[in-house]
Amino acid sequence: MRNNNEYQAQFDAARDNPEKFWGEAAQAIRWSREPTQIIDDSNVPFYRWFADGELNTCDNCLDRHVDAGRGDVVALIHDSPVTDSQQRYTYAQLRDAVARFAGVIRDQGVDKGDRVIIYMPMIPEAVIAMLACARIGAVHSVVFGGFAGAELAKRIDDATPKLVLSASCGIEPTRTVEYKPLLDSGIELAEHKVERCVIFQRDTLTCDLIEGRDVDWQAALADATPADCVPLAATDPLYVLYTSGTTGKPKGVVRDNGGHAVAMHYSMKAVYGVAPDDVFWTASDVGWVVGHSYCVYAPLLLGCTSVLYEGKPVGTPDAGAFWRVIAEHKVNVFFTAPTAFRAVKKVDPQGELAKQYDVSSLRALFLAGEHCDPDTAVWAGTHLNVPVVDHWWQTETAWPMAANPLGIEQLDVPLGSAGRPVPGYDTHVLGPDGAEVVNGEMGDICVKLPLPPGCFPTLWQNDARYKSSYLEDFPGYYRSGDAGYFDADGNLWVMSRVDDIINVAGHRLSTGMIEEVIAAHPDVAEAAVVGAFDADKGQLPVAMVVLKSGVTRSNDDVIAALIALVRERIGPVAAFRKATIVERLPKTRSGKVVRATLREIADGKDWTTPATIDDPAILTDIEEQLGRIGYARSRS
Ligand code: COA
Ligand code: AMP
Repeated sequence: MRNNNEYQAQFDAARDNPEKFWGEAAQAIRWSREPTQIIDDSNVPFYRWFADGELNTCDNCLDRHVDAGRGDVVALIHDSPVTDSQQRYTYAQLRDAVARFAGVIRDQGVDKGDRVIIYMPMIPEAVIAMLACARIGAVHSVVFGGFAGAELAKRIDDATPKLVLSASCGIEPTRTVEYKPLLDSGIELAEHKVERCVIFQRDTLTCDLIEGRDVDWQAALADATPADCVPLAATDPLYVLYTSGTTGKPKGVVRDNGGHAVAMHYSMKAVYGVAPDDVFWTASDVGWVVGHSYCVYAPLLLGCTSVLYEGKPVGTPDAGAFWRVIAEHKVNVFFTAPTAFRAVKKVDPQGELAKQYDVSSLRALFLAGEHCDPDTAVWAGTHLNVPVVDHWWQTETAWPMAANPLGIEQLDVPLGSAGRPVPGYDTHVLGPDGAEVVNGEMGDICVKLPLPPGCFPTLWQNDARYKSSYLEDFPGYYRSGDAGYFDADGNLWVMSRVDDIINVAGHRLSTGMIEEVIAAHPDVAEAAVVGAFDADKGQLPVAMVVLKSGVTRSNDDVIAALIALVRERIGPVAAFRKATIVERLPKTRSGKVVRATLREIADGKDWTTPATIDDPAILTDIEEQLGRIGYARSRS
């Protein structure tokens, strides 16, 4: 595939004749009914890919490979330094385990189209649960284990699941996370009544089961009859994955079966340059889209070996973990977030631990989730001696929108850029008037509709929010919510969000969700949260809080209570540790908090007073306050 201009040829082909391009890509998938209609545009802006096709995603991930005589190939390696164990499943073993567990969930009354929430740590059973849902046409919704009960409750209420699948515990380097109390509180807080849970008991810590509601995973398996794959319409939902919007209410990103399978398969070859039998490792979590796409679906759709890693880059047991896993499992392509490499670099700046391992199996490192600082990319590339690809994508798309597509052609991409638009994404940078800006000028990064297969066709039961959040500002385009520019060579530079989403250690959070929790505290009148630069985690939330009059507790006590409350309501991943009490929030005359200015102040940048602000003196007060907690000018 590697010859000059092949990238441009594929990009043009996908843009100019999407039906032909994606029709051909669809042939890599096993359909129980071949699609004849590649794109249905009868109800714009709701495009549907392969609308009359029928398939099963689990069949394509597992059975298809077994039927092709590849049942003995290793499909999944679970590498768990936190339990000091490893487990391998061949394609045949994984197919059998999934078919059997699909029997369990069917026995619990789950049918095609029913939702199943999966709230689990990084264990093979989480993957088995996802694929088992796919097998019988149930719609899974995985909730990240680092989220607290209240966040789980929001997702239960939106997805209204028939069943919840969970485990007794997760294991973080310094503590065992008891899932059961979080699960129980989530179920209790939710208005939708969850009638059944199937719980996987781990050896590290077991939990009590609630009679009449909770079912033991292993016991249920003993009685289960394996279930076959159910044929599904290409447009039937495979999963719903919640992601942060600008409010506290998460958005339920819907993924279809057909477009997703085609796009996942195409991306493995075109972007990551892998082939069946390669070992692919994504160090993420199945709770995020990266985990859905590149720990589970894409590697299995292509027939690779996927490494599922239950550990951290550092502390499990040391900063040599990445090199160890690559060497031990002969990983060919590795994908993680820049923040993970920053953590390794901080502990082992000279890369001494890397020298202890043979990482020569590796061909490429892919980084995503946040803007990658050039230092980190250079450091990782030096110690791994492979190309480092910064690529850009979102929960909404499920696969990269911009990359250096190594499987098509290795392009000359400067450090700091996220590469070129991937074939299928007709990407434009638009100004506020909707017109394309010139190269080098910042604007809204938008993709001309239709989005390629794999991208979300809508939000769960919320077509209106889909349109208003993504499609209305620039008619005919998908608005990504990221700002950036194209350089003269056509490379895309993704610089910042245009909204109030922040990125903390590769975890996408909204400042609105944190503000909502803080504002719920009885001492608080109102609060503003912004994401401030952090050298390790990329960004950290910092809050400016206005107290109600008459509060007698000390400011320090209130702040400690707020930190505890955010941890309890959202979860530890919010990494919320810094707040300051202020007299008033700076607002425009129409009552909007001037967040962009607050961000600049927190980061110690030069800032100017917005013309519309009602009282400019508040800003200098806030700058002083933030300086006292290590932000603002104290940083520079
Ligand atoms: N369950 C429960 N708690 C969790 C958790 C989980 N699945 N994941 C993280 N947490 C907790 C951590 O233990 C930590 O708790 P603490 O405040 O008691 O120390 C807190 O949440 C913050 O975690 P995190 O920000 O993830 O920091 P970390 O030091 O644990 O890990 C990284 C650092 C870089 C390894 C981690 O942030 C990471 O892997 N980030 C990449 C995320 C990602 O894959 N994004 C997708 C794009 S590729
Ligand atoms: P998520 O939906 O959690 O995957 O987060 C998506 C967001 O992460 C994007 O909208 C960007 O803001 C950010 N992001 C992801 N990859 C990159 C990248 N390579 N460069 C810059 N920002 C990125």
